[in-house]
Formats: sequence, C-alpha cells, structure tokens
Amino acid sequence: MLSHKEHNRRFFMKSALAVVALAFFGLWDKMLIRHKQINKAATFVFPLDLNKKISFAENFIIIRSKGNIKVLSSRCTHLGCRINEAMNDQLICPCHGSSYDFDGNATKGPAVSPLATKEFIIDKENKTISIIS
Ligand code: FES
Repeated sequence: MLSHKEHNRRFFMKSALAVVALAFFGLWDKMLIRHKQINKAATFVFPLDLNKKISFAENFIIIRSKGNIKVLSSRCTHLGCRINEAMNDQLICPCHGSSYDFDGNATKGPAVSPLATKEFIIDKENKTISIIS
C-alpha cells in the first residue's frame, strides 16, 4: 500500500507529465498549421504574349519554343540571383555568369543544377498564364 506522501508524489508527477504533454501537442499543432501555410501553393497570373519567345515575369521565365510553352524558375541554382537576360539561346545569370539552355539545364557554371520547372495553366480567352509555385 502506498503512503500518503508517495501517493501525492505520483499524483504530482502524472499531473506534471499531463501538462507537458498538452503543451507539446499544442505547440505541435501550431507548428503543423504554420508549415501548411508556408507550403501552400501560390498561383501567379501574368499576361501572356505569344509573340515573345522569352518573357521574364517576376520569379519566372516563360519560354515559347516550337509551339510549346515552358515555365522555369528564374532563381539561379547557384546562389539564387534572379535571371533576367537571354542571349544566344541562353539564359544568363547576372551575378556570377552561369548560363542555362531553354530547357533549364545549366550549360556554364558555377551553377550545376537545372532551373526548376513550374506548372502552369493557359487561359487563351483572357490571354493569361497562371503559374503555380
Ligand atoms: S547566383 Fe547565378 S551564377 Fe551565382
């Protein structure tokens, strides 16, 4: 049989453990909600000019080639500078000179990884492109 002192100590330990568990799950829940908000996909809508081969729109590069459209991230895979220039069928990073072909493959370093490809939806009626980031 437990002494009164031992019983109180066990009750205190169980209560303290319950409080810690509630606090942990409360924080965990808030972290999950924040994580979902951060990772929620955003959609960016831009006017679509089908006469241009290359369009730079904020963090994206819209490339029209052979009747197809491709959207790449404009963030250089070296250190993240925004690519904003195309020359001789190459996308050029202004920071350290990396270049990429129009499929997003690195053709000159220091970048070695390809540019991220983005999903998009074209609205021909309104002449817009919605890019999912
Ligand atoms: S950030 Fe583009 S080459 Fe360095």
